[in-house]
Amino acid sequence: MSKNWTPDSWRAKTILQVPDYPDQIKLGEVQERLASFPPLVFAGEARRLKNALTKAANGDAFLLQGGDCAESFREFHPNNIRDTFRVILQMAVVLTFGAACPIVKVGRLAGQFAKPRSAPTEIIEGIELPSYRGDIVNSIDFDEESRQPDPERMVRAYNQSASTLNLLRAFAQGGFADLHQVHQWNMGFVADSPLGGRYQDLANRLDEALEFMAACGLTSESTPQISETDFFTSHEALLLPYEQAMTRVDSLTGEWYDTSAHLLWVGDRTRQLENAHLEFLRGIANPVAAKVGPTTEPDILIRLIDILNPNNEPGRLTLISRMGAGKVGKHLPELVRRVKEEGRIVVWSCDPMHGNTVKSSNGYKTRPFDKVLQEVAEFFAVHRAEGSYPGGVHIELTGQDVTECVGGAQAITEADLSSRYHTHCDPRLNAKQALELAFAIADNLKAERSSSRINESGLKQAVGT
Ligand code: PEP
Ligand code: CO
Repeated sequence: MSKNWTPDSWRAKTILQVPDYPDQIKLGEVQERLASFPPLVFAGEARRLKNALTKAANGDAFLLQGGDCAESFREFHPNNIRDTFRVILQMAVVLTFGAACPIVKVGRLAGQFAKPRSAPTEIIEGIELPSYRGDIVNSIDFDEESRQPDPERMVRAYNQSASTLNLLRAFAQGGFADLHQVHQWNMGFVADSPLGGRYQDLANRLDEALEFMAACGLTSESTPQISETDFFTSHEALLLPYEQAMTRVDSLTGEWYDTSAHLLWVGDRTRQLENAHLEFLRGIANPVAAKVGPTTEPDILIRLIDILNPNNEPGRLTLISRMGAGKVGKHLPELVRRVKEEGRIVVWSCDPMHGNTVKSSNGYKTRPFDKVLQEVAEFFAVHRAEGSYPGGVHIELTGQDVTECVGGAQAITEADLSSRYHTHCDPRLNAKQALELAFAIADNLKAERSSSRINESGLKQAVGT
């Protein structure tokens, strides 16, 4: 148990990115109500994720974390949840072939509502209003009333998270994720593309493997891993009144768990050592993550690790590097080196999205797909050079056929962006781009595996085994 920690000890600290609720009494009432609601996830599940991440920290698994930048009340629809889940499964199949190890699937889903903003207010045509901070806080519509933070939105976000999670659990355990369905996942606008074809080839190989296994007596009935999958949820622990209300003692271990998601992370804007967000995260027993950006100093990173993972438990802490293409080689090596020298065990994951956001000439926030690919390649190159394991990726994606990121095999242009630009916050990869990225990561992982095999055999020769 963390020393001098309570679910509300963050309140004594400086806090950034906090919404200005006009009605504090209502805020308190809503928190009390939330605290009486059932947990969304269970401590045992969070521990299972931690075990899976322990494998990723040791180089025996790979983390795939992805989903919306911001979930919204407006886009809440079973088809959207299904399509995001489906593209994550497709990516996982592609990565499994590349990595030949378990893929730990974690959604930015069922709770990813609160957003940090670069400024507290926004000015449009001379009118200044509070910035949109995600549907859990206020509405994206640009008028006085919509932009007022409203605590009731936390209850709506909770309810939407509960239904989303219910559907995800059904998809993961109820047959949709059965590996025999692998062809069915390749539907809609992805199927009739060259990438869809490449995926189909993998699916055919998987079919053959499943037939072979069935002939050996390993079927969906005898082997639940074939018919079910583990799927976990995560979001940025930004809106602390909500997170506090969802934090409960686990009766089995006596530890505190934030039951709003399996994994919680701290964002690049709120990871200051002395501030409220780290204070909150340090006390919960869930696996946690921290974004690491170009401004992160090695000494500060070690102190952040001291705070979030003082006992150096493997699987507890994931560091999500988000440097921006062209900057990884400058910033990441010294961080990786320092973490290694200090003997700290972490999962190193790569977010190739948040360092690569640009404004298009026609005014859209976008991300060039080639920069996303470039950052992933640079991330793998640094880990190869440093002899550490690239343990995962963190992607903003949707299963929908949106036009938010330029480039990719579909060659989305700046002029195309206006056609289907639906995001409530940052631009997401669409399903085709996500699959294309998965193939690129799989190629990197294959290279990683063969180079580590060469290293291992080189080492064996050196020690005469
Ligand atoms: C995010 O993940 O949506 C985000 C805001 O990222 P970062 O904290 O890395 O900027
Ligand atoms: Co984002």
